[in-house]
Amino acid sequence: MKILVTGGTGKVGSEVIKELVKRSVSVRALVRKQEASTTLPEGVEVFLGDLLDPVAVRKALDGVDKLYLLNAVVPDELTQGLIAFDLAKKLRLKQIVYHSVFKVEEFKDVPHFASKLAIENALREFDLPFTIIRPNYFFQNDVSLKDVLMNAGMYPMPLGTPGVSAVDTRDIAEAAAIALTSDGHLDKAYNLNGPEILSGKKVASIWSRLLGKEIRYPGEDLDSFEEQMRQSAPSWSAFDIRVMFQGYLERGFVAEDGDIETLTKLLGHPPRRYEDFAKDTVEEWQQPADRRLHQPAA
Ligand SMILES: NC(=O)c1ccc[n+]([C@@H]2O[C@H](COP(=O)([O-])OP(=O)(O)OC[C@H]3O[C@@H](n4cnc5c(N)ncnc54)[C@H](OP(=O)(O)O)[C@@H]3O)[C@@H](O)[C@H]2O)c1
Repeated sequence: MKILVTGGTGKVGSEVIKELVKRSVSVRALVRKQEASTTLPEGVEVFLGDLLDPVAVRKALDGVDKLYLLNAVVPDELTQGLIAFDLAKKLRLKQIVYHSVFKVEEFKDVPHFASKLAIENALREFDLPFTIIRPNYFFQNDVSLKDVLMNAGMYPMPLGTPGVSAVDTRDIAEAAAIALTSDGHLDKAYNLNGPEILSGKKVASIWSRLLGKEIRYPGEDLDSFEEQMRQSAPSWSAFDIRVMFQGYLERGFVAEDGDIETLTKLLGHPPRRYEDFAKDTVEEWQQPADRRLHQPAA
């Protein structure tokens, strides 16, 4: 069986590829840059192309049985997603596993959720076997907070008091690989949530303990959060993420009844804990640069 994976150089897709290789599946990765071939596991077939280019996507799908579709948060996410979906449908693939997001139908005001909802709707409407995975906020987003945690002594993500049931990208990848390689997952959608509710203050207290110094949680000033984000991200992206956090605060983003049990059963083990992820991350940060297993994302 051959599976085409998109987003294979990113946080989740790279883990999905590892999980599929572990299961001896033949993997083709659609990547935009040739250099990606140096970081992908041995044996993975690299196909150069862009998800916005239907000609390239058509060729990438040629001869594959299944598709793992992850789209980045980009202004044309919906077009990219539907190009891959429409071509997978035309080629009558055996399954598409689509990487969506938790509570997608309750966040129609958030551009990158609205794109995913439209793609989910297409999956449900047409005759292509699918599985949808709907992950919560990723633990691994916080790897990019090294400087602000270590130097400014602050945990800046506005998770609020309701908090989120954040999840480890390794559990998301494992769930995707299981859905792609075992029976019983067609026409299903899985909410992928971590085992505990993480409020802003709770996450700050975890980092305080692990870093051995006070880490402050500044609260939820979304105007200044968006302004800060604009310094490192395009303004449309800062706006999109701000509206998402606003939704978390107003509508909540915590696991629904039965979600943790379903994920535990799917994985065959309980989902990973944030504190364990954070502990490993601190150890990684404290390694001399030349001994780090991987460089945390900037
Ligand atoms: N972060 C969260 O907390 C969270 C939670 C739930 C769902 N999600 C969803 O998860 C997805 C992001 O996953 P991630 O964090 O693993 O992604 P990521 O690390 O940002 O990586 C994005 C991947 O997409 C590729 N890509 C971007 N534009 C492309 C294009 N035009 N054609 C082909 N490939 C392209 C990138 O390739 P290059 O290496 O070439 O750039 C990279 O491999 C988004 O859909 C997001 O909404 C995120």
